[in-house]
Amino acid sequence: MYKIIKPFLFKYEPEQAHGKTLDALKFVQHYSQLLPLIKKMYHYDHPSLQQNLNNIEFRNPIGLAAGFDKSCEVPKALENAGFGAIELGGITPKPQHGNPKPRMFRLVEDQALINRMGFNNLGMNKALSNLRKYHYDIPVGLNVGVNKVTPYEERYQDYIKVMETFKHDVTFFTVNISSPNTENLQKFHDKSEFSQLCEAIQNFRQRTELSVPIFIKLTSDLKLEDLGRMLDHIVETFDGIILANTTQQRDGLSSDHRQESGGLSGKPLFERNLKMINYAYKYTKGQFLIIGTGGIFTSEDVIKMLRNGASLVQIYSSLVYEGPGLTKKLNKSLAQYLESNGYQNVSEIIGLDVE
Ligand SMILES: Cc1cc2nc3c(=O)[nH]c(=O)nc-3n(C[C@H](O)[C@H](O)[C@H](O)COP(=O)(O)O)c2cc1C
Repeated sequence: MYKIIKPFLFKYEPEQAHGKTLDALKFVQHYSQLLPLIKKMYHYDHPSLQQNLNNIEFRNPIGLAAGFDKSCEVPKALENAGFGAIELGGITPKPQHGNPKPRMFRLVEDQALINRMGFNNLGMNKALSNLRKYHYDIPVGLNVGVNKVTPYEERYQDYIKVMETFKHDVTFFTVNISSPNTENLQKFHDKSEFSQLCEAIQNFRQRTELSVPIFIKLTSDLKLEDLGRMLDHIVETFDGIILANTTQQRDGLSSDHRQESGGLSGKPLFERNLKMINYAYKYTKGQFLIIGTGGIFTSEDVIKMLRNGASLVQIYSSLVYEGPGLTKKLNKSLAQYLESNGYQNVSEIIGLDVE
């Protein structure tokens, strides 16, 4: 069906097309009798795909990456679209418009996107009231960012404010220090800034006796030795790591929009992120939760990410090119792969390719 819809959607500028997709999902969510229909179309269940990680039940390892539903507007529709988990946001304390448009570009020949959205979202209070309209049967995570107007030294407190607000309403948090579209945000990867952030998060956990796991999402532009340095701190402070967000590299691209500034996602990200995942798995001796993201289009990609150390994966750009049927396709092929290779559960292949 997406083969028919895609040419129409691609006539629109990418952010407009995204707006139309959200409208369609809002419609489905509003007429709740449509939800079972969506579930039937996109859902695939198999016991071999289920895992319990950090005390969270994942019915399959294919999650929705952050940035698709920035303000928690369509979580109930997304819950029925076949994902094992959804990550909403990035959410900031105050509402903000983000960067001037256009700020999202399709790189069709490269099967990629460039975005410089800049944390456009309705702010934490509105997002929370959106989220609270429903109950959820799958893990719902929240990606957390900082406001552009927050003074530099106070920015780590934005993460705490958002987590404080959502602490009873989500299954996990992701502290996003990796968006390239908020000035200096990636400075949180630097040693002293990162220590300060970790300390604030540890204090927050103790003060609130927080039971919700907190993940950290790093940039794809991090050197492996810097990833190693950060991992020592990360394992003390966080419950998992998402590798990795978009890149500012533009090597080997052929599409028209390749020189637009912003974060590049999609196919060109895959090999870079795979290396980071492999490195992190080895560094932590397979003892720390890794979630893989970046350029996953096929079940072979999913299998590679898992075999290199990710326990779960997340997708975004491939949904733009392949449509919503992708979740079912990936889950079905993964279950077939497991069965035909004699594995009982997906957890058995995690890290198999790490030497
Ligand atoms: C339009 C757009 C907006 C995004 N917004 C966010 C965001 O708010 N927070 C975040 O952590 N990642 C964000 N991302 C990054 C994705 O979550 C994902 O990590 C990245 O796109 C790599 O996966 P992919 O190649 O499957 O798209 C965004 C990506 C796109 C394309």
